[in-house]
Amino acid sequence: MTQSLTLTRPDDWHLHLRDGDMLRAVLPETARDFGRAIIMPNLVPPVVTAAQAGAYRDRILAALPEGMAFEPLMTLYLTEETDPEDVAAAHASGLVKAVKLYPAGATTNSASGVTDFEKVRPVLEKMAEIGLPLCTHGEVTDHDIDIFDREAVFIDRVLDPIRRATPGLRVVMEHITTANAADYVRSQEADLGATITTHHLIINRNHILVGGIKPHYYCLPVAKREEHRLALRAAATSGDARFFLGTDSAPHTDANKLQPCGCAGCFTASNTMPLLAHVFEEEDALEQLERFASKNGPAFYRLPENDRQITLVKQDAPVRFPEKIDTPDGPVTVFDPGFDVYWSTES
Ligand code: NCD
Ligand code: ZN
Repeated sequence: MTQSLTLTRPDDWHLHLRDGDMLRAVLPETARDFGRAIIMPNLVPPVVTAAQAGAYRDRILAALPEGMAFEPLMTLYLTEETDPEDVAAAHASGLVKAVKLYPAGATTNSASGVTDFEKVRPVLEKMAEIGLPLCTHGEVTDHDIDIFDREAVFIDRVLDPIRRATPGLRVVMEHITTANAADYVRSQEADLGATITTHHLIINRNHILVGGIKPHYYCLPVAKREEHRLALRAAATSGDARFFLGTDSAPHTDANKLQPCGCAGCFTASNTMPLLAHVFEEEDALEQLERFASKNGPAFYRLPENDRQITLVKQDAPVRFPEKIDTPDGPVTVFDPGFDVYWSTES
């Protein structure tokens, strides 16, 4: 029997679209199923000023195929030189919906990120005053901290001190990968949300490392132990308004993934909604999918929900998703969950 599920159209609260040819190739993959997305600013060079964010927004809209509707929600990349007044003006004009904090060196294209958190205090205070959210890549970069512990240490050493020093600052812990992060979010009274990716609901660190190294499962923050994956599933399917979808879909060509020092990132834009339907069904929580993907995010960002919808249909036979998408830079491999999926979307 065919089962179908019609939801308010989802949004992606953490997305990498890149620029140029790659932007043109990956944008339709997101616009097919999603109404809006928070667009990550880690281009080369990064999107630091309001003027750069405006120009990037124009390039995204110009890359959108005819007949597709999609709203890019722009962010600014926080540096030690960021001007609080530029941030305030970008917010007031409606252009910018968040500011992104990368600890310097934490991930792809994060060299201009923050080392001395005192230097960004005036910007954070301005953001608290105007209600503009801070999105955090929550990993410390200290060489003596094990990569699997970097998120938990970030909470204690960076995030909690920043939040205590800046009352009223609204923060999104992005792409959380640990039970520690989910517990921290739940323990706070207000002004804190978290995004969860599709792939962190599906893989743990064994998927990356057992039986040969799997570069297409390598992303940052790196997937953790199984107990953490289960904690993320519990948070995502709970209906708790503080948890919402941010795919962190991060396209890299196969040539850049499959090399001695391969890039971090999983490309999930093409099949996220079918994969989420599979995961939520497995957790017996299909009725919570709309909150996670379509309702909790707009509520946190104080934006209206999309007025369009999306329909997910459960097929009788496994759905075959394209293994790769072609781009002028070379193929990009689509995330393979490693199991059969029976759901597809009808937009
Ligand atoms: C992202 C990218 O490729 O830009 N990679 C990733 O593994 N998630 C950067 C990021 O969000 O950390
Ligand atoms: Zn990201």
